[in-house]
Amino acid sequence: MSKTLSEQISKEVDKRRTFAIISHPDAGKTTLTEKLLLFGGAIRLAGTVKARKASKHATSDWMEIEKQRGISVTSSVMQFDYNGHRVNILDTPGHQDFSEDTYRTLTAADSAVMLIDVAKGVEAQTIKLFQVCAKRGIPIFTFINKLDREGRSPFELMEEIEQVLGIRSVPMNWPIGMGRDLCGVYDRAKNQVELFQGDDHSVIKVQKVEDYHDPVIREMAGQFLHDQLCEELELLDVAGDPFDFEKVKRGELTPVFFGSAINNFGVQTFLENFLQLAPKPAPRQTIEGLLEPTDEKFSGYIFKIQANMNPAHRDRIAFLRVCSGKFERGMAVKHVRVGKEIKLSQPQQFLAQDRDIVQEAYPGDIIGLFDPGIFRIGDSLSQGSEVTFDELPTFSPELFARVTVKNALKHKQYQKGVDQLTEEGTIQVFYSTGTFDETILGVVGQLQFEVFEYRMKAEYGVEVLLQRLPFQFGRWVVGDSIDPAKFRINSQLVKDKKDNYVALFENEYAMRTAIDKMPDVKFLETAP
Ligand code: G4P
Repeated sequence: MSKTLSEQISKEVDKRRTFAIISHPDAGKTTLTEKLLLFGGAIRLAGTVKARKASKHATSDWMEIEKQRGISVTSSVMQFDYNGHRVNILDTPGHQDFSEDTYRTLTAADSAVMLIDVAKGVEAQTIKLFQVCAKRGIPIFTFINKLDREGRSPFELMEEIEQVLGIRSVPMNWPIGMGRDLCGVYDRAKNQVELFQGDDHSVIKVQKVEDYHDPVIREMAGQFLHDQLCEELELLDVAGDPFDFEKVKRGELTPVFFGSAINNFGVQTFLENFLQLAPKPAPRQTIEGLLEPTDEKFSGYIFKIQANMNPAHRDRIAFLRVCSGKFERGMAVKHVRVGKEIKLSQPQQFLAQDRDIVQEAYPGDIIGLFDPGIFRIGDSLSQGSEVTFDELPTFSPELFARVTVKNALKHKQYQKGVDQLTEEGTIQVFYSTGTFDETILGVVGQLQFEVFEYRMKAEYGVEVLLQRLPFQFGRWVVGDSIDPAKFRINSQLVKDKKDNYVALFENEYAMRTAIDKMPDVKFLETAP
């Protein structure tokens, strides 16, 4: 093929930064996202993202959820241009919407921004999301938010990040004061102070200095804060990790930035540094070998399918991450699993609030495809020769329920619904291994149960009964000598769709005991 196409792809790949923001609810993700979009000029009005969030959490009434689905579809990916970069932010939903989709979405990101509340530190949901990112070895950047409020000491937070998440950190800037005393942050690489002004934050006020001992800082911050800054940075210079780009790229070291999203303080600096340091789309593992994003042939995989909750519109949207080549509207591609050519005629891209028809897209971009029911999570699409991306991992569920059909005559439809919704990745299904036939559903977020119940009724005409079970952990059990009798106390052994053994535990103690008792058996967090 022509050299120009490969040059064009290579240029576009270099520009792309595709990432997800991982955080615990209330750390400020909506606020930070909104500020980032504003810098990119993707939204003109502050409050747009916020309004979406407010409407999302207003009620759990189903009619509302339908409406919300419509909105959240368009906002699942946000794209904007900044300083010659094309930025794609993947939305990972908050606690009410938390589901396996959230984990799968992270597979489409090339890096992650971990957002931490300065007062709260590393919280539960951040840990879960971090672990999924860490497993992939993608670079993780940390933004410590709400510096305008009294919080924990930066050293304490760094220690917590290391202890809880197992990753070393390197502060790129350092707070001068905090809460009411916040004076600014000191940029360690550029030797400058960014002043916190409290009013017009659209202009960053920067003071260049010799180094952090410069008396100019004393004049600005006062003796107490300057002494503190010198003391802390001296300690950091001696005992802290140096910035090591290779370690950052491998996800072994996280660059840390301090700021306050709501005051737009430190956000632009963060964005600019992030865009410099964050990786462009990387080669992807496929069954056929490592695939370069600059490969001229288009390829991608589906990481999320969003069903339309309105029964009058049964269409679904499949989210595809472009992994190589150039995507063009209307192009014919191979649907690898079914072995057929299909035409991608009405792809959508997701700008902040508008749906746009995509004319072309490049590696790192996410496109939405109308799905008349032909796609499954993990499907590969490719142009020319077949490209099969590695299977998406199946994550261990945390909530379980026994499912039964209310009307036994509807058993056939029920089975069809369960099969299809499992394939789509809405829920995971497990079957009892004992004499008593039992179907158990597993999910990572409550919403998945609600979606399951609703869709079974709306799409398959089946009313189901869900009875919550006390299990909190599921582990795939692999080994030669698996004895169901050993899983009787606070646990149960079941099988997944592929006949793998899965042990369900009521609590961590029961799980630990089982692991200790069976040293020859492996307990896996993702399906083998
Ligand atoms: P989330 O998406 O991670 O759940 O968080 P969101 O951005 O909605 O922020 C949660 C709360 O934290 C909001 O307050 C928001 O205004 C506040 N917040 C975000 N960034 C900062 C910051 O830098 N400093 C301070 N002090 N607060 C911040 P809220 O009271 O829940 O909402 P609202 O009344 O402000 O709308």
